[in-house]
Amino acid sequence: MTPEHPIRVETHGRVGLITLNRPQQLNALNDALMDALGAALKSFDADPGIGAIVITGSDKAFAAGADIAAMADWSYMDVHLDNFITRNWETIREIRKPVLAAVAGYAMGGGCELALACDVIVAAESARFALPEVQLAMLPGAGGTQRLPRAIGKAKAMDMCLSARILDAAEADRYGLVSRVVPDAELLEHTLALAERIAAFSLPALMAIKESVNRAWESPLSEGILFERRALHARFASSDAHEGMHAFLVKRKPEFQHR
Ligand code: HXC
Repeated sequence: MTPEHPIRVETHGRVGLITLNRPQQLNALNDALMDALGAALKSFDADPGIGAIVITGSDKAFAAGADIAAMADWSYMDVHLDNFITRNWETIREIRKPVLAAVAGYAMGGGCELALACDVIVAAESARFALPEVQLAMLPGAGGTQRLPRAIGKAKAMDMCLSARILDAAEADRYGLVSRVVPDAELLEHTLALAERIAAFSLPALMAIKESVNRAWESPLSEGILFERRALHARFASSDAHEGMHAFLVKRKPEFQHR
C-alpha cells in the first residue's frame, strides 16, 4: 500500500494552498509532515506567481498537536542531537510572504502553535484552541509559551498553558488569538478569498509590512519604529508604490508589477 502523503498542495491564482493530510491521526504533526510542510512553504515562497499561502486541515482538526506516538520513547539526546522543532518546525519563520491559517476543529498543542506562527488565523465556528501539553507532563515547546502571551497577554496565556483550558472560536476571537471567525461551511472559501485579496497587492509591500509587524513582537518600541521608518523609506524605491499613488490620484486601479 502506498503511504499517504502527509500534505496536499494546490494553487488558486496567486494563492498557494497547503492541506495537512493525516486524517486518521487528526493531522498529528510528525517529522514527515513537518518536512513536507516546510518544503511546500519554501517552494511557494520562491515562486513569483504566488503572493500568499494558506495552510488548512480537515473539518475535524487543523492539527491535534505534535505526534505523541512518535515522541513517546524519544530520549533527551535523541531530540537534542536531532534539533527537534528547530530543525523543521521553524521553517515557517523564514517565509516572507503572508501565511494564513484556516482552522476548523482541533488546533491543539503543536497545531495551535503552528497556527500562532501564521500571520492571519481565520477560525471556523467549530475551531478549538488549546495548549494541553501539561496533561502529558510536557511543555508547549514549539513557540507556545512565547507566542501565546504576546498574542493574548500573560494572564490568559498562563491559564491556557497551566490548565490545558480549551478556547472555543468566540473566546479565541475575543482574546485576540484569531483574526476573524466564520461559519464552518465558508471557512476555506472565505480564507482563499482573503488570501487572493492580499496576494493582489504589491508583493514587496506585503513582505515589508509582514517584516515590520513581526518586528513589533521582537523589539523595543524605539527599535521597531526605526525599523518601520527604514521600511517606509524603502517603499519609495518601489515602482509599485509610485504606481499605487499615481493611480489613486487619477482615480484608476493600480497595476502592480510586484517590484
Ligand atoms: C498522535 C493523535 C494525536 C496526537 C490524536 N491522535 N491526537 N496521535 N498525536 N497529538 C490520534 C488518536 O490517538 C486516535 O488514534 C486518533 O488520532 C483520533 O483521536 P481521538 O482521541 O480518538 O479523537 P477524539 O476522541 O475526537 O479526541 C480528539 C482530541 C484528542 C481531543 C483532539 O485526540 C486529543 O486530546 N489529542 C491529543 C491532543 C494533545 O495532547 N496535543 C498536544 C500534543 S503534544 P487511534 O489510532 O486511536 O484512532 C504537542 C507538543 C508540541 O503538541 C510542542 C513540541 C513538543
